[in-house]
Amino acid sequence: MSKIKAAITGVGAYVPEYILNNHELSQMVDTSDEWIMSRVGIKERHILKGEGLGVSYMGERAVKQLFEKTGVSPDDIDLVLCSTVTPDMPFPATASIIADKVGIKNAFHFDINAGCSGFIFTFITAAKFIESGHYKKVLLVSAEKMSGITDYTDRTTCPLFGDAATAVLIEPTTDDNSGMVDYIAKSDGFGRNHLYMKGGGSCYPASQQTIDNKMHYIYQDGQTVFKNAVSNMADVSVEIMERNNLTADDLAWLVPHQANMRIIDATARRMGLSPEKVMINIQNYGNTTSATIPLCLWEWENQLKKGENIVLSAFGAGFTWGTILLKWAYDGDKI
Ligand code: UT7
Repeated sequence: MSKIKAAITGVGAYVPEYILNNHELSQMVDTSDEWIMSRVGIKERHILKGEGLGVSYMGERAVKQLFEKTGVSPDDIDLVLCSTVTPDMPFPATASIIADKVGIKNAFHFDINAGCSGFIFTFITAAKFIESGHYKKVLLVSAEKMSGITDYTDRTTCPLFGDAATAVLIEPTTDDNSGMVDYIAKSDGFGRNHLYMKGGGSCYPASQQTIDNKMHYIYQDGQTVFKNAVSNMADVSVEIMERNNLTADDLAWLVPHQANMRIIDATARRMGLSPEKVMINIQNYGNTTSATIPLCLWEWENQLKKGENIVLSAFGAGFTWGTILLKWAYDGDKI
């Protein structure tokens, strides 16, 4: 019998209604649509408004959409993993909060913080549970409220990020023509000095001083992150093609993390892929951290065909980076 592999069998998402466009941003800080479009490629981003609403609010809605689409019931789920850098609160895990909100009672749950590589790392983790043969339905929630940690007086970071949540169902398959084929996951703690939020943890618990020093906002050394993202994301994406004897012609899609159009272009170029094989929606959502890749899968789902070779690739805080090669498990237009 063929080996058990982990397959994506459904995708749901939720994006908040409010849209913050470049015009509105240019009235808040010294920036312009021209600068943001040419240097990053973002036109607008969705922002969650409302007192006391965190990522679980969006995650709950993404999961409910997934359940509705797939016909899966909360009782069927046996593991919930949530990737986020913006949990509802430091503890308990946001995975547990979402599980409770949607009525999941027969599962265990925990969060994974791997920055923008969060979806890649949770999918790999889920695959190990699935491949063990003991877990049949794993729910991956990638949920980020980046607006909650963004300084809207800092023009170097505030145009970049947006809010969104996604929910992905992972199930076992023994079909040679579907499921995760290979992965590469990497981290280098050198990156901790270049992309972080310093306040609110055990080193610097929230205080008047941490607030005055703006320590509850994202800090990013953009150029260092950019250089490392370009080389590392492209390196692993090319390596996974080579070690599986795949050329650009064999790939149906690249699904890259959506942080900067120039990083996406550089990765696609190194892989020899033509632009029409690259999923790009950064212009509509900005960088939603760990939600970017599943948000693309959700938007492109009805174009995906069973057996297609797809490469997912990301780079983010840590630094963390990685790639997954998978064969898509169902015809998306039949959903
Ligand atoms: O998802 C997690 C991983 N994150 C990433 O992958 C992001 C990686 N980094 C980047 O995408 C880019 O570095 C940024 C988009 C963050 C910045 O783009 P850049 O081309 O690296 O710009 P820069 O930081 O080198 O700044 C160039 C100039 C500076 O002005 P001077 O010093 O040359 O006069 C900045 O002050 O652009 C200025 N600038 C802006 N101008 C207008 C920076 N932000 C803005 C802005 N509007 N929003």
